[in-house]
Amino acid sequence: MWGGRFDKPPADAARAFTRSYPVDRRMYREDIVASRAHAAMLGRQEIIPRSSADALTSALDELLSELDRTGGPPATADDEDVHSYVERELTARLGDDGRRLHVARSRNDQVATDFRLYCKGFCLRLVTAVLDLVGVLIQRADQEASTIAPGFTHLQVAQPVTLGHYFLGLAEMHRRDVDNILYAYTVADVCPLGAGALAGVAFDIDREFVASELCFSQVARNSLDAVSDRDFVSAVLQTCVTLTGHMSRWAEDLVIWASPGFGIIRFDDAFATGSSMLPQKLNPDVAELTRAKAGAVAGAAIGWQATLKGVPLSYALDMQEDKRAVFRVEDDVLASLRALTGALSTLTIDRERMAAVASLGHPTAIEIADYLTERGVPFRDAHAAVGRLVRLAENRGIELTDLNDADFVAADARLSGDVRDRLHLQSAVARRTSLGGTAPTRVQEEAGRAERWLRWQRDHVHDLSSRGLPTALQPPVSA
Ligand code: ARG
Repeated sequence: MWGGRFDKPPADAARAFTRSYPVDRRMYREDIVASRAHAAMLGRQEIIPRSSADALTSALDELLSELDRTGGPPATADDEDVHSYVERELTARLGDDGRRLHVARSRNDQVATDFRLYCKGFCLRLVTAVLDLVGVLIQRADQEASTIAPGFTHLQVAQPVTLGHYFLGLAEMHRRDVDNILYAYTVADVCPLGAGALAGVAFDIDREFVASELCFSQVARNSLDAVSDRDFVSAVLQTCVTLTGHMSRWAEDLVIWASPGFGIIRFDDAFATGSSMLPQKLNPDVAELTRAKAGAVAGAAIGWQATLKGVPLSYALDMQEDKRAVFRVEDDVLASLRALTGALSTLTIDRERMAAVASLGHPTAIEIADYLTERGVPFRDAHAAVGRLVRLAENRGIELTDLNDADFVAADARLSGDVRDRLHLQSAVARRTSLGGTAPTRVQEEAGRAERWLRWQRDHVHDLSSRGLPTALQPPVSA
């Protein structure tokens, strides 16, 4: 491909070290589709004969369907990268016409274009998987809208909440992930093809045509930036750091909740694993590995950023490492999402035990303070009075509800009425109807709102998939 000015071929150690084919053959579809648009443009602009352009586009179409059938370019091919593989295949099929394709193009603008197409597709695969997860969260929230669950701060039982409220909290996190992914998609949605090696090209190319063939909504406006910009890689990786960080946090909740000391949830056998020695074990491996992958994903993103920061404009081979980072992250994130979504949808909740754990440590003491403040007591004084009651109950080893009437009145004369009713977990959650609060009525309302959001986003993503990528790169239509 570039041997003309060289005296000798590269040393084995140099070639094996610098070639990227084993990694980037994964984006053969993007390379073929982008090459097809380039070939069509060359013909339209009469930069190459129209007959050559036609031969190229047909051969590229054939190559694509052939590779789709056989599962992609062979792992054993000896090419430097996927771009040289495709060009070599074309030349083997077409002879000289194959050798005409690379005019007015460099691998530098080519690889940036291919990888932007790839990342747009990745964002769509990712957002679809996150929406599936949010769907399960909303469904579970709806089922558990009035289930009492322990609410923690500092991993100490703090106040009762509804389990539905917890699940909707997770849905909120992942709704932000959806926004982040769609943002990363727009960062990638710029076409660099036509920038050449770094300076633009001296042919009358039609960049707008190429961009529109490839469904990019913008054309990169500076050739140096076009070949050196990898912000889209950083954006998609950073998005994955935040997403897997979210998943890791609640996976950790599930690990804790499933441990026998809590025992408030149970993973389905299909989403748990056993021990080779201890026959009784049921381990939350899916949640644990989700937690671990978040670390690996953050490492990949930081590693990539550290690689990029020293690269002088415009292109340098350092940037070839972008694919390794993104592919690794894609595999880890999509696998985590699928497994964790499955684990969540099959999770068993022990509602009774959950309520029992939620009642530990006087979590409704605040109800008494609220009761007093409603009767004119400054909150600080009410807080102190309830603190005395808690100490009394602790000393006697009983619950607040088991203190007698005289104890309440001794703490404050106004604690003579129905205050005890307030201490029940159900009534405590039911009273928290403030916007964003945990009351079952609120949870149901918010679940409905989240469901409407989900429907809208699914339509939006469906629309993006059909108009944001060339047909050959669109994800298969799901049921
Ligand atoms: N394999 C390279 C990459 O992934 C393609 C571009 C190579 N360009 C070059 N001048 N060596 O970045």
